Amino acid sequence: MKGAATLILGGLTLAGGLPAQADDPAAGRLIANMCRTCHGLDGYAQIPIAPHIGGEPQAYLEAQLMAFKTGAREHEMMSIVAAGLSAQQISDVAAWYAEHEASATLPDGTDAGDAPGACVACHGADGLSTLLDAPNLAGEVNIYLDTQLKAFRSGQRQHEIMSGIAADLTDDQIRDIADWYANVKLEISPPD
Ligand code: HEC
Ligand code: HEC
Repeated sequence: MKGAATLILGGLTLAGGLPAQADDPAAGRLIANMCRTCHGLDGYAQIPIAPHIGGEPQAYLEAQLMAFKTGAREHEMMSIVAAGLSAQQISDVAAWYAEHEASATLPDGTDAGDAPGACVACHGADGLSTLLDAPNLAGEVNIYLDTQLKAFRSGQRQHEIMSGIAADLTDDQIRDIADWYANVKLEISPPD
């Protein structure tokens, strides 16, 4: 994860001319006090509309916060939160949440073979991401997943892979897939 974060910071250095510093999860913990009412200090969401972010890949968290900051992704709450953070603070708070460990348990009576086949290569059968730049979906509220998939489908949120995948999904398929991942039990443990 460090490697991917350095790559992103490297990109920022080129774009902004700022020197890239190493990320600091301890500084990120302090910044997370601004996030805790919605995402929890450990990244386990406290309100249904906010996603769980603890234990997600650092590169993904950084990329989303930068997207909210630049306006590439928009949300009434997160755009304001991200606008107030520097690139260094984004790196630090992403490092704090990414240091946590996410674990997922499938609902009783199901197995990995029941998972949505089109998603498992990147998001896992249990919703734990297999890629550095893809999010965990495990245990997210189904309405959050539904909203994001429809945002990709409508073009309101854009991504080279997800826009194409969501374009082919019907409302019923989106609901079924969102229910699958929402029913996975997510646990988030603090860093050692
Ligand atoms: C007032 C509530 C609130 C606060 C405070 C808040 N968030 Fe959020 N956050 C949200 C909501 C709601 C979303 C979902 C946005 C959407 O629907 O696109 C979100 C989305 C995100 C995402 C995208 C996650 C994903 O899976 O795509 C990240 C990353 C994030 N927040 C990080 C933070 C960080 C870091 C802080 C503190 C610096 C913070 N948030 C503060 C409510 C909040
Ligand atoms: C080839 C890899 C790949 C496949 C296959 C894939 N995804 Fe994704 N998915 C990603 C990446 C990468 C992102 C991050 C997008 C971004 O940066 O905005 C993502 C983001 C998402 C998000 C946003 C979650 C959040 O926290 O905001 C949802 C929901 C999602 N994918 C659902 C699905 C579903 C459902 C399928 C199957 C129908 C699927 N994805 C298949 C790679 C993939």
